[in-house]
Amino acid sequence: MSATAAATEIQNTPLIGVEDLHTFYGKSHILHGISLKVGAGEVVGLLGRNGVGKSTTLKTIMGLVRPSQGRVVYQGYPITSMAPHKLARMGIAYVPEDRRIFRLLTVMENLRTGLDRGNVTDARKRELLDKVFTYFPVLAERRDQAGGTLSGGEQQMLAIARAMMLEPKIILLDEPTEGLMPRMVSQISEIIGALHREGVAILLVEQNVPLTLAASQRVYIMEKGEVRHHALASELKVGDPVIQQYLGI
Ligand SMILES: Nc1ncnc2c1ncn2[C@@H]1O[C@H](COP(=O)(O)OP(=O)(O)OP(=O)(O)O)[C@@H](O)[C@H]1O
Ligand SMILES: [Mg+2]
Repeated sequence: MSATAAATEIQNTPLIGVEDLHTFYGKSHILHGISLKVGAGEVVGLLGRNGVGKSTTLKTIMGLVRPSQGRVVYQGYPITSMAPHKLARMGIAYVPEDRRIFRLLTVMENLRTGLDRGNVTDARKRELLDKVFTYFPVLAERRDQAGGTLSGGEQQMLAIARAMMLEPKIILLDEPTEGLMPRMVSQISEIIGALHREGVAILLVEQNVPLTLAASQRVYIMEKGEVRHHALASELKVGDPVIQQYLGI
């Protein structure tokens, strides 16, 4: 293989590759052969109506649900059904729909749970905390407040900030703007842009089509457990027939 071909090959190896995933809950067949890729540093949108299997796709990648068929490959290695904490250590962060912050722990304690992973020096811990406090000044203001007392938007920020503590290569982000006020939505949108500029890849599940098209380089549209459409985000507009058809807006 020539050097150029090898370089192209490496570039073509996605950070995460999902291949023909089938997932069941009991007897309900939810994912019907999902395949998608996320490149290093790429923001990829995953759109679809309620109940099409977006969250199940993320849960299957994260090892929270075992697929009956298909595989997940990360940096060229099969990781299908690996334990979530191992995947987190390998650089895959997951921010679920329900955010799952520790309600009784303070903001600072929540963030520290992402820093307790062995080989992080004190200096690096301080740098990481400084970084998220720059991104999310409100979390600095509320550092001693219990997580459960934060507003919905602040809890979302805390969940993303905690994921950032893991220094992930990719964040699986499930509907980060759901139920948030417009001002909070734009802040989340800005943070996605900032993470992208830092080279963090994001698989972004959203129902907010304009935000997803603006934040992503590519988008997949799902319906009934299948990917029905795949496009560059720059090729799609909110009013396109394909968006109307699958998202009905
Ligand atoms: N734990 C579960 N047990 C049984 N069925 C489930 C479970 N979780 C989800 N489902 C079903 O699987 C289907 C896909 O759910 P999923 O949460 O992946 O959809 P989604 O695209 O994320 O929807 P939403 O936009 O509402 O979050 C739905 O019909 C849902 O009712
Ligand atoms: Mg969901």
